[in-house]
Amino acid sequence: MRLKATRRSDPELYGLVEEELERQQNNIEMIASESTACEELLELSGCVFMNKTTEGYPGARFQAGSQVADKMERLGIERARALYGAEHANLQPYSGSAANYGVYAAVLQPGDCVLGMRLDHGGHLTHGSPANFMSKFYRFVSYGLNAETELIDYDELESLAREHRPKLIIAGGSAYPRLIDYERIADIAHSVGGLLMVDMAHISGLVAAKVIPSPVPHADFVTSSASKTLCGPRGGLILCKAAHAKALDRGVFPGSVSSIHLNVMAAKAWLFKHAGTEAFRSTMLQVVANARALADVLGQNGFRIVSGGTDNHIVLVDLRPKKITGKVFQDALETVGITVNKNMIPSDPEKPSVTSGVRIGATAVTQRGLREPEIERIAAIMTRVAASPEDRSTLESCKEEALSLISRFPLYPEVPLA
Ligand SMILES: Cc1ncc(COP(=O)(O)O)c(C=O)c1O
Repeated sequence: MRLKATRRSDPELYGLVEEELERQQNNIEMIASESTACEELLELSGCVFMNKTTEGYPGARFQAGSQVADKMERLGIERARALYGAEHANLQPYSGSAANYGVYAAVLQPGDCVLGMRLDHGGHLTHGSPANFMSKFYRFVSYGLNAETELIDYDELESLAREHRPKLIIAGGSAYPRLIDYERIADIAHSVGGLLMVDMAHISGLVAAKVIPSPVPHADFVTSSASKTLCGPRGGLILCKAAHAKALDRGVFPGSVSSIHLNVMAAKAWLFKHAGTEAFRSTMLQVVANARALADVLGQNGFRIVSGGTDNHIVLVDLRPKKITGKVFQDALETVGITVNKNMIPSDPEKPSVTSGVRIGATAVTQRGLREPEIERIAAIMTRVAASPEDRSTLESCKEEALSLISRFPLYPEVPLA
């Protein structure tokens, strides 16, 4: 990319950036949490707002010289509210995880009960995993999926809510390919005197484009990353009802962040305008079409698709019919230039470091311009790799085919590389 000064002052580091650019260009990137930042986002993430320290909120800062930062933060907030039809927005969290911590800081006291989805059924580390430090402060209880449908078990969720009366219920996850009945979960949360937080980190681009239903009308709080389907910088955001605005803002600052990453906030402000365009909507429509095409062809080729398909950008694949583990398949695909991640499937008999599944995402390849015909070719390559994950000649020919396919879709067609 245009890293002229770095190239002069630190050729070693510049070389690594070049190497990473080449890796991204020559590989078919299908990690479900990834997207490709466009040129404006790269520019804004490195702009002079990086130089400014500011804490607090517009009009009530702790540092002088924050007038322009105030204008920029207000612009970003207005754009986020308009994009999602939200009563209040906070753009200060450093990431999707930090957005969740901001809500916890706003509404929970140590020892409070929180009901979230099990990590091995598609939830997230920050929703109650014992490995996450939040579990030291709050009493997390987990709901899961119905064993037959592999959809959220709303009846179990309801009976756990009645039993434990959680202060907060969390909906949303990292590996859940289906729509969520937010209204039903909101009714359950409110009926036991609790609040609903929807973590839409993965699907916030699809929601912004109105390709799938929005949690905003139903949830007390909605958190997100900006870098997944929203295709933005690595940062977080929180939306909430006006009644919770004051508590939320306090939970974020001074509750859980200090000085704002203004440069990243500027990139988010650009994003919230861009995500309202027809061009963004048509990309998001294609993301879902591509994910469905992938699920269909893999299913026809003998893979088991968890829940039988997808409504979003995620395809969760059970590899047991192919008699390989997630780790073996991930590593074999990496050698042919297709990047996915091993992932637990519901009630996975394997360890998290091995797994019986992979999670595949359609966002980044769709941004590059791939459509159903190319996705079907990728599914065919995956099928050959799964059949012979250790056969060198199969892997060599799959690698050639993958490279020739992706080479037709440059990562940054209009950006000079140096
Ligand atoms: C559901 C969910 N919430 C939160 C996060 C954390 O987001 P970030 O990586 O921006 O901290 C993730 C990341 O994978 C996620 O899947």
